[in-house]
Amino acid sequence: MRVIYHPILGDTKGGREVTIFFNGKPLDAREGEPVAAALLAAGIRVFRKTRKRGEGRGLFCAIGRCTDCMMVVDGTANTRTCITPVREGMDVKTQFGLEERNPSCGK
Ligand code: FES
Repeated sequence: MRVIYHPILGDTKGGREVTIFFNGKPLDAREGEPVAAALLAAGIRVFRKTRKRGEGRGLFCAIGRCTDCMMVVDGTANTRTCITPVREGMDVKTQFGLEERNPSCGK
């Protein structure tokens, strides 16, 4: 299943097929669709882990209003993947805790 219209990103259908990387693993995606949609289509449900308990979080609001879909995208932590459109070759990683505690964010 793919998202063909998103209330924030608009019309997302018709994007060419591209490859993105989730924790180093290549995944098929469509250019312009939300990163979160590409992950869900690949069966990935946990996008980040909470700081204190390490609990998994995934898609919740899907319109950029919460923090559950935040991941490290191309080295930038706290990226809301539900409102971030796919681009060829994106590097998407599970986020652990908050940005300042995330060693992969480069800070
Ligand atoms: S799921 Fe709420 S901001 Fe993305």
